[in-house]
Amino acid sequence: MRRLVAETRLHPADLVLPLFVKEGLTEPAPLASMPGQVQHTEESLVEAVRAARDAGLGGVMLFGIPQVKDASGSQADAADGILQRALRAARAALDEGLAPGAATPVLMADTCLDEFTDHGHCGVLTSIGAVDNDATLARYASMAVAQAKAGADVISPSGMMDGQVAMIRDALDDADLLDTSILAYSAKYASAYYGPFREAVDSELKGDRKTYQMDFANAREGLREADLDLAEGADIVMVKPAGSYLDVLRAVADRSDVPVAAYQVSGEYAMIEAAGANGWIDRDRAVLESVTSIKRAGADVILTYWALEIAGWIK
Ligand code: PBG
Repeated sequence: MRRLVAETRLHPADLVLPLFVKEGLTEPAPLASMPGQVQHTEESLVEAVRAARDAGLGGVMLFGIPQVKDASGSQADAADGILQRALRAARAALDEGLAPGAATPVLMADTCLDEFTDHGHCGVLTSIGAVDNDATLARYASMAVAQAKAGADVISPSGMMDGQVAMIRDALDDADLLDTSILAYSAKYASAYYGPFREAVDSELKGDRKTYQMDFANAREGLREADLDLAEGADIVMVKPAGSYLDVLRAVADRSDVPVAAYQVSGEYAMIEAAGANGWIDRDRAVLESVTSIKRAGADVILTYWALEIAGWIK
C-alpha cells in the first residue's frame, strides 16, 4: 500500500554519479573519508562510466586531479589535461553500442579551478591573494571549451564567480558548441560538508571560500543567485549541499522554469557511512531516506555518491 501511494519515487535516471580521476595513478586509490569511493585511474574510470551506463544512471560528473598543480591551474584547460583525457575516454565508452531501449548517461564535467591550482582556490588570485573574479572567468571560459571539445555534454561551473554562466555560454557559442548545456552550481554554500572532497581531489586549500561561496544563514541570497544564473542562460540550476538546504532547494524548485539539481556532498555521504559502520543507524535505510527527501524537496536531478548502489536497489 505504501508503495502504491508513495508521492515520491526514485528512478536511476534521476541520479548522477560523481567520479574522481587522478593523473598518474596505477591502481584505484580508496578514499579514507569516503568509504567505498576511490580516486580512479584512467582505466578504472572508464569501467565506472560503463557501470553507470549499465545501471541506467542519468549521468556521471567527472572531476580531474592533475599530477602538477600551479597558480593558474594550467592543466584545467590543457587539451591533454587529465580531465580532458578522461572525458574523451568516457565519451568513447558511452558511445559504444547500447542495448535496445537503453540510454546513454549524460557526461558532465566539473568546471572549476580548485582541483588544478596549487593554492586550492576556485579561481586565480590577485597580488594580495584574493580571488580575482574576472580573471577567473576567462579561465572558466577556456576550460568550458576544452571540456566540450573533449566530449562533455554538460559544463558545470562550480566556482561561484559572478557572471560565470554568461561568460561560459558566450565562449561555447563562439566556439560553435551550441548543443553543450550548462549546469550551474547556483546556490552553493560555504560548507563544512565539503571536507572529504578535499581529500578526494588532493586539495591544498588553506583557509576557506567565504569570499565567493554563500553564508549558510542566508536563503534569499540563494534565490537571487539562482535567478541570476537563469537570466545568464543556465540550463539546470543546482543547490549544494543538499540535506541541510532542503528549504533553499524547495524555494528554487518553486521558481525555476528549468530543471533543478541538488548535490548530496561528500560530508553528507561520510556522515551516514560513519554512523552506519558504527552500527548507530541503519545505513541502507538512511541512504534511501536522505536521497528520497532531496527529491521530495524538489530536485529533478540528484548528484550522489550512492547513485550506483541505489540504482541497484530500485531497479
Ligand atoms: C569545486 C567543488 C567542490 C565540490 C564540488 N565541486 C568543493 C568546494 O567547493 O569546496 C564538493 C563536492 C563534495 O563535497 O562532494 N570544484
